[in-house]
Amino acid sequence: MLDTNRPALPPEIGRRRTFAIISHPDAGKTTLTEKFLLYGGAIQMAGQVRAKGEARRTRSDFMKLEQDRGISVSASAMSFDYHSGQRDFRFNLVDTPGHSDFSEDTYRTLTAVDAAIMVIDGAKGVESQTRKLFEVCRLRDLPILTFCNKMDRESRDTFEIIDEIQENLAIDVSPASWPIGVGREFLGCYDMLRNRLELMDRADRNKVAESIKIEGLDDPKLADHVPADLLARLREEVEMARELLPAFNAQSFLEGHLTPIWFGSAINSFGVKELMDGLANYGPPPQIQKTDSRQIAPEEDKVTGFVFKVQANMDPKHRDRVAFVRLASGHFQRGMKLLHVRSKKPMAVSNPVLFLAADRELAEEAWAGDIIGIPNHGQLRIGDALTEGEALRFTGIPSFAPELLQGIRATDPMKAKHLEKALMQFAEEGAAKVFKPMIGSGFIVGVVGALQFDVLASRIEQEYSLPVRFEASQFTSARWVTGPKAELEKFINVNKGHLATDHDGDSVYLTRLQWDIDRIERDYPDLKLSATKEMM
Ligand code: G4P
Repeated sequence: MLDTNRPALPPEIGRRRTFAIISHPDAGKTTLTEKFLLYGGAIQMAGQVRAKGEARRTRSDFMKLEQDRGISVSASAMSFDYHSGQRDFRFNLVDTPGHSDFSEDTYRTLTAVDAAIMVIDGAKGVESQTRKLFEVCRLRDLPILTFCNKMDRESRDTFEIIDEIQENLAIDVSPASWPIGVGREFLGCYDMLRNRLELMDRADRNKVAESIKIEGLDDPKLADHVPADLLARLREEVEMARELLPAFNAQSFLEGHLTPIWFGSAINSFGVKELMDGLANYGPPPQIQKTDSRQIAPEEDKVTGFVFKVQANMDPKHRDRVAFVRLASGHFQRGMKLLHVRSKKPMAVSNPVLFLAADRELAEEAWAGDIIGIPNHGQLRIGDALTEGEALRFTGIPSFAPELLQGIRATDPMKAKHLEKALMQFAEEGAAKVFKPMIGSGFIVGVVGALQFDVLASRIEQEYSLPVRFEASQFTSARWVTGPKAELEKFINVNKGHLATDHDGDSVYLTRLQWDIDRIERDYPDLKLSATKEMM
């Protein structure tokens, strides 16, 4: 919940906007991201994000599979500056994987942001994946800005789109802009927040729209730019919108009850700057983070942060792992010694990286709200806290129960050890759950969505040159078993055929019958069976 009585943030923190873009595949997230980077001065020409295939490995989408299937598999973060009004902002865009099967990653990613931009296709409205992601944002009361894209094509009626969002997502929608014409006739928008006319230039896709200051809808200047029939319609619609739809209310937006909507065309660079201005001027600065002992305010002097994603093999030449850390408070400087709370060991953070759009760069400093990448050899896990000494435990990073289990084997049986290494790495990354049965050979992999199997196979083949095959498993459910040592040992001894260990060596009970689970709970009242493993 937003606390309006908090003291003003230090300027460096107050100018940060850390956000994600959520959408259904194909709505235009990649195109919008490119335009953000273009206006942020991070790339020279839109198209670069797509074009430089190899360079993309270190950026947002780095997998061959992604290119083959046209889906985004990894999440990463990009930082860039943006000037709006008289102020300089620092935008941190955290990329969310686009496909529905990657919900685990997506959920965790959304724990690292303070706001989300929801992109919808003007012809399609609210689609399944949009709804799912929206629900995650809602769980966290994240403020949401909506961008209705592809207005240069035939789209639905503006009121219909707004109604659909209001009804489907149960959120108030306030038009920040209003489209003039549609499809071939689409001229631009009337900026309802700033009384301006924004005109789209179809000839130059990268050009910023022409912006004309007007004195409201009765301004005679309007007739110079908008044909009479469209103008009459605009006046009528805006009047109706003002009557029927809620006016923009900053507080309600920040609390997640109301979303402002901008209409535009990402590919034509139209409406993008207005959206960015909206994020800059109304979007939340870094917010308070929760831990199990107290709340962390971003302006606190001491540095704290948590790992929300681990990515292995970003550079296939080095087996490095990068842990993405959201800084929750303080001013981080390169070389700082931080406490790795889980292992209780100090950690000198000497080579942190900040993901500037064009390249990875050494982060000399970073502030609360920023995302830094810390290369490491596996010490840093999802959910881990880094602090200047306090034993904090951040809450709210979800762990998911694996819902699908399959056996996995290397096609070449001589490569079993290799496979084990690869699987352990992916397990630590959070890409899958990996179980080593106590009896027999091979491994069982547990995932949340079926496509994760394909992703895993593809990554093991690419990153470890190791073809693998999956086979049906006799088990369908996994439960982590904890409890007093003697009781646990007794249980393990009589259930060896069902037992496995995960990548941490913890015991997991595998079965296909709920009945088995009920029986164990009855026969071993001191043991605890859980479908998820605490990440921290
Ligand atoms: P995604 O990341 O959400 O999956 O969407 P992406 O940006 O890749 O856009 C999906 C398709 O929609 C692309 O076409 C893209 O060019 C197109 N698109 C994006 N914004 C607009 C817009 O404002 N107007 C119109 N008309 N189209 C838009 P594609 O044919 O799949 O790819 P490409 O060949 O253009 O690269």
